[in-house]
Amino acid sequence: MIERKLAEKFRRLYTENSIRLNDYDDQLFTLQDPFDWVQLLSERSYVMREIFAENEELMAELWENCSEEITPEEAELLYDLAIGFFYDGHHDFAVLTNFCERILPVFKEMEEPEFLVAIYHVLGYEYASFYSPLGDKKGMDIALDYFRESISLSDKYTKISTPEVREFIFEDYFNLISYLGNLYYKSDEKIIESIDLFEKMRTLWESEEAQNLDKDNQVIMRWLARTDDAFLAKTMHIEVMTPDEREKYSSLVKDMAARAYAEGGDEEGTPNYRICLTYRRIMREISNEEVLESLIKCINELIPLPDYNGDEHEALSLLMRHFKYACTAVMILRRMNLSGDKLDEWTDRFLPRSMEIMTNVPYHFLSGTMQPIFAEWYHSAEPVLRGELNKVRFLMYMIVRRQPFTYIHSQMVAKISTIIGKEMLDKSPGEFVGVRGIESEEDVKKNRAYLLSFINISGLVHDVGKCYIPDVVNRQNRSLNNTEFATIRKHPEIGYREAMGNVALKPYADVMIGHHKHYDGLHGYPLGYDNTKSPVRIIIDIISIADSVEAGTDTLSRSYTRGKDFSKLMKELEAEAGTRYNPRIVEVMKNSPELIEELTNLTGQGRYDVCYNAMQEILGNRKEDYNDMLKEYN
Ligand SMILES: [Fe+2]
Ligand SMILES: [Fe+2]
Repeated sequence: MIERKLAEKFRRLYTENSIRLNDYDDQLFTLQDPFDWVQLLSERSYVMREIFAENEELMAELWENCSEEITPEEAELLYDLAIGFFYDGHHDFAVLTNFCERILPVFKEMEEPEFLVAIYHVLGYEYASFYSPLGDKKGMDIALDYFRESISLSDKYTKISTPEVREFIFEDYFNLISYLGNLYYKSDEKIIESIDLFEKMRTLWESEEAQNLDKDNQVIMRWLARTDDAFLAKTMHIEVMTPDEREKYSSLVKDMAARAYAEGGDEEGTPNYRICLTYRRIMREISNEEVLESLIKCINELIPLPDYNGDEHEALSLLMRHFKYACTAVMILRRMNLSGDKLDEWTDRFLPRSMEIMTNVPYHFLSGTMQPIFAEWYHSAEPVLRGELNKVRFLMYMIVRRQPFTYIHSQMVAKISTIIGKEMLDKSPGEFVGVRGIESEEDVKKNRAYLLSFINISGLVHDVGKCYIPDVVNRQNRSLNNTEFATIRKHPEIGYREAMGNVALKPYADVMIGHHKHYDGLHGYPLGYDNTKSPVRIIIDIISIADSVEAGTDTLSRSYTRGKDFSKLMKELEAEAGTRYNPRIVEVMKNSPELIEELTNLTGQGRYDVCYNAMQEILGNRKEDYNDMLKEYN
């Protein structure tokens, strides 16, 4: 039986630990002195290990005390705990879903809409934030079902006494409608469901019950406005709608436009203006070119720049406005199917500014909210960009740099693999025959610069899949459960999926999926991928070794290991040469005193420079020259 005292202790300590870690992170992003910064990083790493152990004990104690069959008293305690966690912003997937799923049957029996809506909302929210970035359909189906359960209680609206819980219902309508239209739910059936949902949501809002209780509720009004946006974005799929559906969709958008016109939709650059513009485009009142001209004028001249030192909400809303205007412009361009100079002519007129606005968002600014927005921006804008290096640069800016430790790790791996690559090209050029169409040793020598650039970029992008792993797993302060471990192990496949959908990244797809497979192909993950057959096997092998060298010598960013020095690591490479690691590379490394010295320096003192520079860059104090980072080697 869990007692209140234990539940309270759990919440207090867990919260304290979280705050302690966040404080360290905040300091990391404000300290300017390099020496203090490195000092702090080491301290943080030590404290993380301590917290890790303490939280582990707490969790074990809590589960030990929990009855096999949860009593109503226990359920209420756990409910308070879960909702408290949720409101405090501890979106710890494992903890919250475990609590909520255990207490759900108890409240179902009691038929309490108030508790039920809150639990369904928390469950849906946690499942969606965990599985949506992973593109995991099964997980998302669970999330959507919880949201459906939550809104199915709309008819008990007046029985819900807490306004925040009533807000959840509207938020869940929004969640359903927007997730149903995202990348993984493009089938017609889901579009129809979202049209119905939109209509139901409006009906609920306009009902007497909702108006009496909530007509001045600002939170609900924000969800309604965001839902308008999400619904409008479904214009993308207008082709797959049947004539009936299209009619229903257009009439709902027409109502929306009427509301937008009534609220100043004529004024250029406002959120309502974009809605009216889109509506007129759907109705074919104006041409794509005219809409683009208007959008570009707003982006470049009319929408003010966000001020991150001022009011946070104000800054976010301006940033979102820029983002939406730019996304709409990109969407129209994609539908126009232009290519070459015609496409460049349009993109040159607004993409540079939009990119600048998006890349200048300070790292610490609402990072949880911004992460998915950056990913969305990357996915919508990437197809209209031209040039491989441009696309890789864009990826580094939008996705990788937002996760400082993945970013630093990637830079380290790129540097380490370039050092190893140079040595291999000198000592064992034959290994590279077959890579990227290279036919002979002679060819290898001719393409040395290209190959080194290929190795360098491979290092930079090898862990791109990690950027789609929910943040909560990356910064966990308790030991990971099986689901979470399995999730981390998915990053090679997620990277592969990402790469295959992108011309610029496609050449690196094998490196992304293969870098955790062992050289002999017998162990490591993912099981289904055969690295031994890859034409870029030698590159995978270099990255795999560089990855182990970087992770094994890291003293700063990992909570679960203690960094070793390079000579110790070299012994490990030798011990597993032929099974885990490519024996030829290990041999070449072992026989090069210069390489050993270089790597000893880079993984020792040199790491601090890489970290520090990356941090300064993330903070916006220093601009990384990507042309330099992605340069062709000589
Ligand atoms: Fe990895
Ligand atoms: Fe890695």
